[in-house]
Amino acid sequence: MKKLVVAVSVLSLFGATSAMAKTGAEIFKATCTACHGAAGEGKKALGPALKGNEFVVKGSDADISATIKDGRTGAAKKYKEFPSPMPAQKALTDAEIADLVSYIKGDIQK
Ligand code: HEC
Repeated sequence: MKKLVVAVSVLSLFGATSAMAKTGAEIFKATCTACHGAAGEGKKALGPALKGNEFVVKGSDADISATIKDGRTGAAKKYKEFPSPMPAQKALTDAEIADLVSYIKGDIQK
């Protein structure tokens, strides 16, 4: 009986984690498309294109993760044609950011 209880609680723990963790594609749709466009094509004055973006294609996972996590404000900003800052994405977990990086380096570039 005790074994069964342990098995059931381990299962529900897994269930809870996978239900909570969002995939890169889901996060992109919910959080990034407003400024970067549904297909990563960019939006005038709001956010640069991520599709075909050299930093996204050639940059290291660590640099891209840091950009997503910390955003781009003040001296860290690179583009004059996108006057607003990119907000830091503090609510995302490291695992979610890692999945987001694979999504923008992978599917978005196709
Ligand atoms: C409120 C608008 C906004 C949102 C939301 C936003 N970004 Fe950005 N993002 C920007 C702007 C503006 C820049 C350019 C900042 C600069 O001048 O360097 C940028 C830059 C970037 C860059 C670097 C591009 C480069 O050429 O250096 C990446 C990567 C990126 N964003 C990914 C994301 C991801 C992934 C999300 C969703 C989690 C996201 N952004 C959400 C506005 C936004």
